Amino acid sequence: MTQIPLVDLQAQYRTIKPEIDAAIQQVIDTTDFILGHAVGEFEAAFADYCQAAFAIGLNSGTDALCLALRAVGVGPGDKVITTPHTFIATAEAITMCGAVPVFVDIDPVTYNIDPALVEDAVTSKTKALLPVHLYGQPADMDPLLEIAQRHNIRVIEDAAQAHGALYKGHRVGTLGNAACFSFYPGKNLGAYGDAGAVTTNDPDVAQEIRLLRNHGRAAKYEHDRVGFNNRMDGIQGAVLKVKLKHLDTWNEKRAKIAAMYTELLGDSVETPTVPDWAVSSWHLYVIRVEQRDRLFERLRKAGIGVGIHYPIPLHLQPAYTDLGHKEGDFPHAEAAAKSILSLPMYPELSDSQIEIIVEAVKQSRN
Ligand SMILES: Cc1ncc(COP(=O)(O)O)c(C=O)c1O
Repeated sequence: MTQIPLVDLQAQYRTIKPEIDAAIQQVIDTTDFILGHAVGEFEAAFADYCQAAFAIGLNSGTDALCLALRAVGVGPGDKVITTPHTFIATAEAITMCGAVPVFVDIDPVTYNIDPALVEDAVTSKTKALLPVHLYGQPADMDPLLEIAQRHNIRVIEDAAQAHGALYKGHRVGTLGNAACFSFYPGKNLGAYGDAGAVTTNDPDVAQEIRLLRNHGRAAKYEHDRVGFNNRMDGIQGAVLKVKLKHLDTWNEKRAKIAAMYTELLGDSVETPTVPDWAVSSWHLYVIRVEQRDRLFERLRKAGIGVGIHYPIPLHLQPAYTDLGHKEGDFPHAEAAAKSILSLPMYPELSDSQIEIIVEAVKQSRN
């Protein structure tokens, strides 16, 4: 039986094995295991790639969000506006700062936070907006930045899924006060373990995150803050530096795969819509169907790796019952959670594999 995974990290490793092996070996040879040269070089290259003044290498995207929020002053008693249709880490980071997530429904076409609904959610306690560039598609930042400016609130981008995506011609990563990236292995730019980064043009934010990631340390045993251990490992920096050189080519392949899916699927299912001001990084290719669970099962049985990103909106998660939400509070997010399905998406996916997947989707719809 055909087996096509949702993501194939082995296929990618095979295309870059000599470069990766040499980069990892160098970290071992120099025993530069935490931060160090490889991380420093990756930070410089990634800042350059994102057209940002600074990139700070961290241990995960979740901690990138935590440190970015703290660095712009989010703390206990504050509220942060975000989307309920995202991975839980987005909201967790807010909670971990002692602040409270305030959810705003999504635009049902782009799946990103609906800027038209944000203003009504702003109060005197709102300290930041945390839009997510979900599936690689940039959130509509201009109206969000305008609201933020009027109310003097900070904007942090959750760019965990959007390495290389463009908003009105600008790379995501410098649209707000800071942007947070995940390098979880399955991401467009994935490490060989957990890793993340913050990009920013603000030197104070960069400096604060550098302190916080390393025990608040100004010198080896001199601590300006009570900080954390959120440093990036040398091996992750080395892997990411190698992979960053391939990111644009991989993203172009993802875009071609997405275009082929959209063409072949036709109107058999609802295919993704990208606004004309956006260039998606196509982290995920998400279709929308009635009877989603039936399609999910049939594709899974046909050997096709499928996913649901994400099946339970955050306001209905058991972890967030204390926020007091109920079914019906964010109808677009709830409807999306019931009808979305992610098809296999990775740069090494072949045309024939795409044809097999599309055929299986069409067959399973009958
Ligand atoms: C939208 C979003 N935000 C945050 C994260 C957290 O990143 P990490 O898994 O690196 O902690 C992820 C990834 O898992 C994500 O998809």
